[in-house]
Amino acid sequence: MTGAVTVAGMCGIIGYVGHTESTRPLSVVMEALSRLQYRGYDSAGVVVVNQSGLHHVKKAGKLAALEAELAARPLPAASSAVGHTRWATHGGPTDANAHPHLSPDGAVAVVHNGIIENHDLLRQELLNAGAVFSSQTDTEVAAHLLARAYHQTGDLPDAMCLVAQRLEGAFTLLAVATGQPHLVVGARRTSPLVVGLGEGENFLGSDVAAFVAQTNRALELGQDQVVTITPDSVSVTDFAGQPVEAKHFTVDWDASAAVKGGFATFMEKEIHDQPDAVRDTLLGRTGPQGHLKLDELRVSESLLRSIDKIIVVACGTAAYAGHVAKYAIEHWCRIPTEVELAHEFRYRDAIVTEKTLIVAISQSGETMDTIQAVRHAREQGAKVIAVVNTMGSTIARESDAALYTHAGPEVAVASTKAFLAQITATYLLGLYLAQLRGTMFADEVRAVLSELDQTPAKIQTVIESEDGIKALASAMKETKSVLFLGRHVGFPVAMEGALKLKELAYIHAEGFAAGELKHGPIALIDQGQPVFVVVPSPRGRDALHDKILSNIEEVRARGAVTLVVAEEGDIAVTEFAERVLWVPQTPTLLAPLVAVVPLQIFACALASAKGLDVDQPRNLAKSVTVE
Ligand code: M6R
Repeated sequence: MTGAVTVAGMCGIIGYVGHTESTRPLSVVMEALSRLQYRGYDSAGVVVVNQSGLHHVKKAGKLAALEAELAARPLPAASSAVGHTRWATHGGPTDANAHPHLSPDGAVAVVHNGIIENHDLLRQELLNAGAVFSSQTDTEVAAHLLARAYHQTGDLPDAMCLVAQRLEGAFTLLAVATGQPHLVVGARRTSPLVVGLGEGENFLGSDVAAFVAQTNRALELGQDQVVTITPDSVSVTDFAGQPVEAKHFTVDWDASAAVKGGFATFMEKEIHDQPDAVRDTLLGRTGPQGHLKLDELRVSESLLRSIDKIIVVACGTAAYAGHVAKYAIEHWCRIPTEVELAHEFRYRDAIVTEKTLIVAISQSGETMDTIQAVRHAREQGAKVIAVVNTMGSTIARESDAALYTHAGPEVAVASTKAFLAQITATYLLGLYLAQLRGTMFADEVRAVLSELDQTPAKIQTVIESEDGIKALASAMKETKSVLFLGRHVGFPVAMEGALKLKELAYIHAEGFAAGELKHGPIALIDQGQPVFVVVPSPRGRDALHDKILSNIEEVRARGAVTLVVAEEGDIAVTEFAERVLWVPQTPTLLAPLVAVVPLQIFACALASAKGLDVDQPRNLAKSVTVE
């Protein structure tokens, strides 16, 4: 078959193996897929293996379509199963392109995440040898090659090693075969894969969310490794078949955190989880004397004292967390700090030396652009500290140290609680560096930590005011464009508010530094244009507060409808606003933790009022595992 190639991009993968033939493999896999849909939801499929061979069902569309198909065509009891939920990077999501892909003789089935870059060459080679393809995917090439290798070796792990050696690009592959019903084999290069360890059963997942409901014992896999799970064993080799050690870790996520818990959507639930996300990220990181201790920072203190520049690399919401961090770190530590989109950093000639500290921020720990930025920086001798939410993820593993955020599993595609946890963790990092380098006195660090301890309760207060924000959002559901203005740390908050609205409600939204307004963007203001303004505390720098009031006047004079996020007690703003969304008083540098919350609630409510799927917005996947 010719035509546009459909490649598997950021996909969710689960593999299961147990002793007896039962319905458990299928139910484990389907439950995992419901959890993994944030990685892609263009199509889904499952394959189960029993003594009689492979049995599969796959369907374009969201998981509900696969569930309906399974109800119509139930699969038999089995001892192992593999499932896949897909986000395609090219071409249309069709039944034929959905995973798993079976070899033409039905001997093996393969699911895949990533891009096999030499698929064209391999496809041509297979076509010359008489192969017939039934999909447009690069994955099917792997299925053909694997079946040939399996017939040659009679052993699926050996066959997988042979195939993995021939593939270029990034891939996680899981495979099952007829005649080996108690075995699932995986291979990984660059794309993620972790092992879940059960009792008399084992799991493979594209991330720990795949099996967190079943076990919290896990194994990290390295680059270019093949893993074979049976009900009672896990063996890991390199692509040449040589045994290698895998590292054990414990997943400290609570499985119940990955269910909606009475909320209509994951996003609403995760907004409500935010006080806990901040609290848990702060937990256990202060010694008895109020001294900050970050035991996991396995970078020597002398090196941290010697760094002369910090570059934060991240994408999307995580990059906005980095922008907030820049203000705090420069203020507390006096270390020049840059924030750069990971994909931009990677492909320019950034000045990175052994005295540069890279801070890579990522919820998933699997964002390919950020992974590549980390690798690039380390190649140049820089140390990398990862601020990551997902244990066992690639960025955590490949960095010099990981400072974990404790937001728990974030399922909604739009990031909320991870953002607050990222900001919190970078504050801790900044305070730690300030403590270490002596740019703050111990009592100053303690004072900020004590303010930070109060933020979960403040976030809760904002959440409790959600009804008014939701009513505002409903009333604005026909709005076509919304602008967001902020200054200082309010600027990244404005950009994040705009991103939330774009990705959830498909509305044109832009965040501007309020001071930039007169340099162009003010031309956008017309009669009735809604403008959110994030107003800094009047108790902070007066100039900042007063300047933004002038900016509000400027847009109002041109017809804007101003919706102002302001601190309780800031009476001065009321005459400048059509509507004030009050947030509790918070020191300026920490204010993003509370100021962004009304904007998240607004975007979520407006998208819901439009009848949109807030957990799975169109065209997106949560974890962008291709460049
Ligand atoms: O997993 P990461 O934090 O690395 O993801 C980075 C971005 O892809 C992510 O924040 C994205 O912008 C979200 N959809 C925002 O809601």
